[in-house]
Amino acid sequence: MLLALEDVIERCQSALAEHTPPLAVRDALQELIADPAALDQAVGPIDRGGITPLHHASDLTILRVAWTPGMAINPHDHRTWAVIGMYGGQEDNAFYRRAADGLEPAGGRELPAGDVLVLGEDAIHSVANSRREFAVALHVYGGDFFAIDRSEWDPDTYQERPRDLEGTGRLFEEANERWFSAGGAPPR
Ligand SMILES: [Fe+2]
Repeated sequence: MLLALEDVIERCQSALAEHTPPLAVRDALQELIADPAALDQAVGPIDRGGITPLHHASDLTILRVAWTPGMAINPHDHRTWAVIGMYGGQEDNAFYRRAADGLEPAGGRELPAGDVLVLGEDAIHSVANSRREFAVALHVYGGDFFAIDRSEWDPDTYQERPRDLEGTGRLFEEANERWFSAGGAPPR
C-alpha cells in the first residue's frame, strides 16, 4: 500500500464528518496501523522519543508519538476526545478519576501494536513505556492539542496544575538521554 501523509490527514478529516467522529477515527486508525511499514513511510522515520505534530487545526490534531523505553508521563486530561492507534511497541495506559484530594486510580490498559484506544473528553490518563523498545503511535484529538487549556497532575501527590508541554518535552529528552547513554538500541 502506498500511503502519503496527506492520505493519513484526509482520512482523519473525513472521519470528522461522520455521525460519531471518534469512532470513525478509530476505524480509520485501525486500517492505517494494519500496515506499519506504509505508515512509517508516510509519517517519516523515528530516531528518538518525542512528539511530532503531523496536523493541527481547531477541530483536529494528529500527532506521531514515540515513547522512549522506560519513560512515563504525568496524569493529564485532553478536554476533547482522543484516539490512540499503536503501530510499534506498547503503551501502558493508566486511568484516573477526579477525587476530593486530586485523583484516584481507575484501572488501566496495555496497548500493544495493532490496538486502538478511544478516550472520552473527560478521560484522565498517564502513559508509560515499560518495554525495552520504542512505543510508536498516532494520537488523534478532536480539537487543537496545542491551544486547549488542560490539566496535569503531579504523579506522586496528585495535585492538579496547568498542563506543561515544555515539561513533557523535557521528560522525552531526559528519557532519550538515559536510554542512549546506557547503550539502548535506536527505534526499529
Ligand atoms: Fe494523553
